Amino acid sequence: MAVRKDTLFERFLAPVVKTFLIDQDELRRFYESIDWQSASNRLSHPGLIYPNYYSSQNFHGIEGGYLNISAAVSYDPITQYALPPGEALVRQGLLDAIQSKPRRILDLGCGTGSTTLLLKQQFPDAEVIGLDLSPYMLVVAEHKAKQANLDIQWRHGNAEQTGFPDASFDLVTASLLFHETPPTASQAILQESYRLLTVGGGVAILDGNQKMLRQTEWLTQIFEEPYIQAYAGGSVDAWMGAARFEAVHTQELWWLHQITLGVKPLPYQSVEFASVADGERGDRQWAMG
Ligand SMILES: C[S@@+](CC[C@H](N)C(=O)[O-])C[C@H]1O[C@@H](n2cnc3c(N)ncnc32)[C@H](O)[C@@H]1O
Repeated sequence: MAVRKDTLFERFLAPVVKTFLIDQDELRRFYESIDWQSASNRLSHPGLIYPNYYSSQNFHGIEGGYLNISAAVSYDPITQYALPPGEALVRQGLLDAIQSKPRRILDLGCGTGSTTLLLKQQFPDAEVIGLDLSPYMLVVAEHKAKQANLDIQWRHGNAEQTGFPDASFDLVTASLLFHETPPTASQAILQESYRLLTVGGGVAILDGNQKMLRQTEWLTQIFEEPYIQAYAGGSVDAWMGAARFEAVHTQELWWLHQITLGVKPLPYQSVEFASVADGERGDRQWAMG
């Protein structure tokens, strides 16, 4: 993957730094401390095909979106201002909503791994995997996990089609992913999550409060977010129901955010039985233990 190390900082990061209150020297030091080409090559899945909705759009005013090193370098410094009343409080809201003790956790669209690291800290015995389409975001995530001495696996992949076997996780999470994917992709990601979960496993989605976003369209214009209005017009609750999750409910978090939880239920199987009363045969749905 070719990296234009000479001009990248000036071309993309300098405007970002000017717009937000970010320590330019710190950002530059971090950018220069990493060999982006070798790290991203190591983490990249060579056969991965990027969905068009992802590779064709700019996100947060950065050309090429997350397939640009600048997006990865500037993501954490910007995000600390983008999650009122505070990034730590909002991410903690997701962790507090998880009532189970998962053993295998998959964090979809993990980005720079901020939530993934917290998951590993909360569930130190669990195997935790973070998956993202951007190798550069994964480079930052890996760097952060090493600094924190946390054993997390990083996977370059598409959350719509992860390649993991059926029923291989008991918790699937996605934080701040769905406002960045078209609703059709979000629904595909939920269907994939259902496939990946064991029976009784849960999905937990943290993102912007859709009700609030519908009432404050101006908010959706602040950052360059190509799909946020489509996200605001949809319902994660309904998408989860359509993906066959049960016990689905959405709770508001600090008014601006929402957490939606769902559980993969026992599978139902149609069985034939003989009616005791009249000897007729019929079909009924039975839960399988
Ligand atoms: C706003 S960031 C959120 C990152 C992180 N989850 C967090 O809470 O900070 C969205 C991330 O989703 C990733 N992404 C978007 N579409 C994806 C997809 N279909 N599969 C995997 N990752 C995807 C982007 O590359 C980006 O890193």
